Amino acid sequence: PHTAIIIVAAGSGTRLEARAPKAFVGIDNRTILRHALDGVFAAQPLQVIVVAPAGHEGDAQTELLAAAGDRADLGRVVTGGATRQESVAAGLAALWGDVTTVLVHDAARALTPPSVIDAVAAAVTAQAAALPVLPVVDTLKRVDGGVVTGTVDRSELAAAQTPQGFPRDALEAAYARAAEEGAEYTDDAALFAAAGHTVRLVPGSERSFKITTPDDLERARALLATAPP
Ligand code: CTP
Ligand code: MG
Repeated sequence: PHTAIIIVAAGSGTRLEARAPKAFVGIDNRTILRHALDGVFAAQPLQVIVVAPAGHEGDAQTELLAAAGDRADLGRVVTGGATRQESVAAGLAALWGDVTTVLVHDAARALTPPSVIDAVAAAVTAQAAALPVLPVVDTLKRVDGGVVTGTVDRSELAAAQTPQGFPRDALEAAYARAAEEGAEYTDDAALFAAAGHTVRLVPGSERSFKITTPDDLERARALLATAPP
């Protein structure tokens, strides 16, 4: 395939407060990483790079093989870094073959629908990235020193999800530039936009929420029980 997905799973999951690194925490009888991989392998065929925590590469390989079935040749595991940005960079360095489009996905968004992955991949162009978003539902305030200084117009805002899709060459150049400048970005779309590129929106999904806290894990469990993939 000319499209690859980098699944970053190298975080420790501090806020989840589990015994294992977050990717290896069970939702039901399957881990967060396994659910993320199941979604990816249900999408159109992609090269799959799993970025694992140091010391857990073998565990990640086991999950990859279980999800891949007879398509294990599409997958590869590499070791992550100290920050998410470093983990994505490690994934980029592991791409092989003639990949032209790269999706970057949080393993922690374990229940992301395959249809969203396909839609993001389809929306990437040679110049522009694709970002799945949801409308912001909360009323947001601008604040300063304990007082409200303004209300933010919700229609100008969107909540960003993953996978985020990019033309490979431009993303690699943007990553090289960020590394040179020592700049840290909140997500790949921000890093890409900082290099002067366009990021287009595609509809995200409520199911793509990031499992961050124990409450999020409960939400994922409830969702699998009532509305399985
Ligand atoms: N991630 C990564 N490498 C890092 C840090 C994060 O690959 N050094 C990945 C996580 O595994 C996760 C995604 O980036 O899939 C989003 O990060 P987050 O939800 O913050 O996960 P953690 O960093 O593991 O959690 P916490 O911040 O609570 O420690
Ligand atoms: Mg984190």
